[in-house]
Amino acid sequence: PAPGWAIAADVVVVGSGVAGLTAALRCESAGLRTVVVTKARLDDGSTRWAQGGVAAALGEGDTPEQHLDDTLVAGAGLCDEEAVRILVTEGPDAVRRLIATGAHFDESTEGGLALTREGGHHRRRIAHAGGDATGAEISRALVEAVRARGLRTVENALVLDLLTDAEGRTAGVTLHVMGEGQHDGVGAVHAPAVVLATGGMGQVFSATTNPSVSTGDGVALALRAGAEVSDLEFVQFHPTVLFLGSDAEGQQPLVSEAVRGEGAHLVDADGVRFMQGRHELAELAPRDIVAKAITRRMQEHGADHMYLDARHFGRTMWEHRFPTILAACRAHGIDPVTEPVPVAPAAHYASGGVRTDAHGRTTVPGLYACGEVACTGVHGANRLASNSLLEGLVYAERIAADIAAAHTAGTLHARVPAPLPHPDHSRHPLLPPEARLTIQRIMTEGAGVLRSADSLARAADRLHGLHAEAREALHEHGKTSEPGVDTWEATNLLCVARVLVAAAARREETRGCHWREDHADRDDTTWRRHVVVRLNPDRT
Ligand code: SIN
Repeated sequence: PAPGWAIAADVVVVGSGVAGLTAALRCESAGLRTVVVTKARLDDGSTRWAQGGVAAALGEGDTPEQHLDDTLVAGAGLCDEEAVRILVTEGPDAVRRLIATGAHFDESTEGGLALTREGGHHRRRIAHAGGDATGAEISRALVEAVRARGLRTVENALVLDLLTDAEGRTAGVTLHVMGEGQHDGVGAVHAPAVVLATGGMGQVFSATTNPSVSTGDGVALALRAGAEVSDLEFVQFHPTVLFLGSDAEGQQPLVSEAVRGEGAHLVDADGVRFMQGRHELAELAPRDIVAKAITRRMQEHGADHMYLDARHFGRTMWEHRFPTILAACRAHGIDPVTEPVPVAPAAHYASGGVRTDAHGRTTVPGLYACGEVACTGVHGANRLASNSLLEGLVYAERIAADIAAAHTAGTLHARVPAPLPHPDHSRHPLLPPEARLTIQRIMTEGAGVLRSADSLARAADRLHGLHAEAREALHEHGKTSEPGVDTWEATNLLCVARVLVAAAARREETRGCHWREDHADRDDTTWRRHVVVRLNPDRT
């Protein structure tokens, strides 16, 4: 659709989690005209739901080198070592700057930051806030800073497509805004720098820790714009999500790894611990190993969940250290103080995304990506717990520095957008809102924790069928779904689901969080490389 209104800026940041707001605050401090657009409200999105914390070498005796080693091991041979080195060396100061921005982290009784452990970390290096409400505190502090500094923000703004000039350089984005007065309807922000910080795509599966807004909008936009996307097959399933029934759908309550970090045990229905002897770190093995062990034990027992036993924490510790999780369990009639908590794995984090270099630049000039939407190379085949808030902080600052440098060098010019994509969306026809549930079920059945060539081929066929139906409705009968958030989201989910399934089918091995029952081993001879996807831009 043609934009009905336009705003001009130097940089538009799409998304308002830790990555988006950090980038926006730093761009604004560098004197850039900055606009933040976000699909719902400023504090919606995944950051607010993060529990465990931010990993950084902040503790006595810890070093960036040790953090690097743990990250590389979790990443199962596919991390970009240089990207990780940047993360772990710049991380501690980035956390200190976040504290200076106003975020309050928990302190130990001796003074200094209280640090906990999570899966894959050989040291206590996870800083946390409000016990288990780290993301909510970070979000509060960043939103307050954005408001205090008077940054221009547009809420309820779903990003549609990238605008580029005649040479293919970024010129802004189109948006669909609902209920924002003068900016209602379809419009555009014209800017030579666009920072995608739209978060993840957990909603592509039935059960996920991600909020309903995590629909892969940034990856879908980047694909339509012809940017390279990498590693989409590496979907991390969090091992311990509160189990609410095998038919539970949508966002599910997380039970942080920090609960295991503080000594909780994973047990089966007979109360038997099953992580001991499987890995030197037992319950604190990297996340993929724990998720697989739980899935195997569930298969062996014909069960749909296992249990996390932390009764030994006692009431006081539960109330002070894990108030959010305690409240969520009690809201569902479970009291972790007196009974084991039923848990099962659920989709949690996209380790892949829009491919970037060390400055957050994608393969489209002027388009940056940061946070979960990006693939900087720091996560490889399996993200180390609590590295994601850190990645958002560190790489947002690098992006802001890169844009500011272009501004200083005089190369950040306003660009004239080329005509918009063809309005009938013939390559990506709008899907009806109810397609979302169908996509989630297809993905959970065919591309979930455990995959095979057959399951992936079935998923690919059924996803293709949804696409073909929408195309036929458009081309044969001239019908399309009404443009709106739910139709765009369903369309974006289908776009990312198809690429994810294709990448997972291509990778004929088991590595990190990609688990193939028909290719059970890691194959370093053929597969120590990335699946990179690029679609032809939609300029029909
Ligand atoms: C958790 O608290 O277990 C989540 C941490 C993460 O996903 O990094």
